[in-house]
Amino acid sequence: MGERTEIPANEIDNQKNIMQRVLEVSLARPEQPFAYIDTYGCQQNESDSEKLRGMLAEMGYAFTADEFQADIIVINTCAIRENAENRVFGNIGALVHTKKAKPSQIIAFCGCMAAVPETVEKVRQSYKHVDLMFSPNVLWRFPELLHRALNERGRIFETAANEGAIAEGLPAHRDGTVKAWLPIMYGCDNYCSYCIVPYVRGRERSREPEAILAEAQGLINDGFKDITLLGQNVNSYGTGLSEKTNFASLIRRINEIEGEFLIRFMTSHPKDAGFELFKAMAESEKAAHHIHLPFQAGNDRILGLMNRGYTHEQYLEKIITARELIPDLVITSDVIVGFPGETEAEFEDTLKLVEKAQFDAMFTFLYSKRPGTPAAELEDKTPRNIKQERFDRLLALQNAISDEKHTKYIGKSVRVLVDGQSHDERYPVNARTNGGRLVHLSGAEALIGRFVNAKITHCNSWSLFGVSQEGENA
Ligand code: SAH
Ligand code: SF4
Ligand code: F3S
Repeated sequence: MGERTEIPANEIDNQKNIMQRVLEVSLARPEQPFAYIDTYGCQQNESDSEKLRGMLAEMGYAFTADEFQADIIVINTCAIRENAENRVFGNIGALVHTKKAKPSQIIAFCGCMAAVPETVEKVRQSYKHVDLMFSPNVLWRFPELLHRALNERGRIFETAANEGAIAEGLPAHRDGTVKAWLPIMYGCDNYCSYCIVPYVRGRERSREPEAILAEAQGLINDGFKDITLLGQNVNSYGTGLSEKTNFASLIRRINEIEGEFLIRFMTSHPKDAGFELFKAMAESEKAAHHIHLPFQAGNDRILGLMNRGYTHEQYLEKIITARELIPDLVITSDVIVGFPGETEAEFEDTLKLVEKAQFDAMFTFLYSKRPGTPAAELEDKTPRNIKQERFDRLLALQNAISDEKHTKYIGKSVRVLVDGQSHDERYPVNARTNGGRLVHLSGAEALIGRFVNAKITHCNSWSLFGVSQEGENA
């Protein structure tokens, strides 16, 4: 699949030539143009926004957090749940005012919502101030699309659904200096019955290992210390590549790169995660002791209707195996409450699974009907207030478990990577444990980018608080 889906080098070069042309236009302006990028959704979208930023920087744009100052506004959207979409529509609606204040402003709407035909129609009809709309699979053609938006009169829509491809060699302008996203694959072929991602992100396709290794080496050379390998289902990495490889061996190969850094990844799908992966994690000293392994539901009938491909027993067995191989493994998960037809007894199976699994943290979502997915056709008679009440019970259970897990850190000294500034004066920097738990740290900003020991003093359900045990110059 690899060769078939890779964009030919001459087409990438063509985009680079267009970037050069836009740069010349930018340089000829009396003032440097500004771009504002607003990103919704998952890490894949954040990574895409880094590419947009990279391309915009090469086209001479500076960045602003002020929508009124911006010459181009790019809204990179998420379609995973209705409330995410509503937020986007609210914010896009408000841009009528910025555009009125600055009529030359270009408003671009991209990301997963731009690949949903009904949304495209809605934007076409009712959001006439949007100048450019393009789906995630044509992100690599952004220079050409921007060039057209700058030079043509009409609105531009490049939203046709396609299978998607792999574009190598485009610049990325990463947000931080410590943590980096590294996409290893795109798309999803799992078709969980509730989920929109396979429709908006196209077919599952893996990058060549050499391209990933070269990018990882580059990141490490640039001083990044925390690398998260991204994919909707990283465990099926390698399917379709000419070279026979898999995710476990990719971890082992990245682990061989010299330097002090951590390898993280997300997301793992339980049906494909297993012994080989856990063993590779256990044997690769740079692999973080964390796995995000969404279980979605604790009842087998619901798991079947969700098309997840495992039973609750199989899920629990996997995490037992994982903990046997990696005793201090941090396990986090996702769960959906209120899937169509889920009964009280079936919901209680979810509570039971959470009780048994003892996750360090869990993201709980209320089911959101996604038009066009198979689950949208199912009858859903459970009233909203019952779903909300179940949601609250589940949250309370997990909060108690997280509290208990976090309390065990108190008084201990743990090795953390200081990864950024915070807004809280008492805890000027943020750090992560090897297992990925957030630590609000009292310590100097000079520690950012370093692994230090931190003494944990207190905690809440979501994070830990601590004191750095190393001085600024230590
Ligand atoms: N590929 C990842 C998940 C990506 S979406 C995986 O399979 O694990 C992130 C989370 O959003 C999912 O794990 C799921 O819990 C939630 N989600 C996806 N579709 C949803 C929907 N229609 N309603 C509510 N939550 C949903
Ligand atoms: Fe959606 Fe399932 Fe694919 Fe995850 S694995 S992106 S939940 S279809
Ligand atoms: Fe949202 Fe698209 Fe990610 S739908 S969760 S931004 S893949």
